Amino acid sequence: MNIHYNDNVIMHFLEPINVGVLENSDGEGIVGDMTCGDMMVMYIHVQDERLADIKYQVFGCAAAIATCSALSEMAMNKTLGEALAITDEDVIRYLGGLPDPKAHCSTGAASALHQAIADARARQKPQL
Ligand code: FES
Repeated sequence: MNIHYNDNVIMHFLEPINVGVLENSDGEGIVGDMTCGDMMVMYIHVQDERLADIKYQVFGCAAAIATCSALSEMAMNKTLGEALAITDEDVIRYLGGLPDPKAHCSTGAASALHQAIADARARQKPQL
């Protein structure tokens, strides 16, 4: 099978931005299963209902790494509502497309971010 990535995907794969862990994050989201090898963890800091910082760890192929990098760039400084509206398809478009056999690798990043936002909102609720 011949997989051809565009230059934007290759750039995000070779030099992923915002990769890492956020200490004392406000929210975390995890998608995947280490038993099968692919996993994405998103960490966020929230300030004034905006994503003040995003970092991630990703265990997957070039497309998965590029997807997380692109999503972090897209979502940075967005309101939580705007970030929740970002879909897997939005990320693929932002990257300029992924080869069809690799489209499934993009699924998970947006869900992990959405989970991190839900986690942050749950933590903000007053504790009884
Ligand atoms: Fe497993 Fe792409 S993330 S093949």
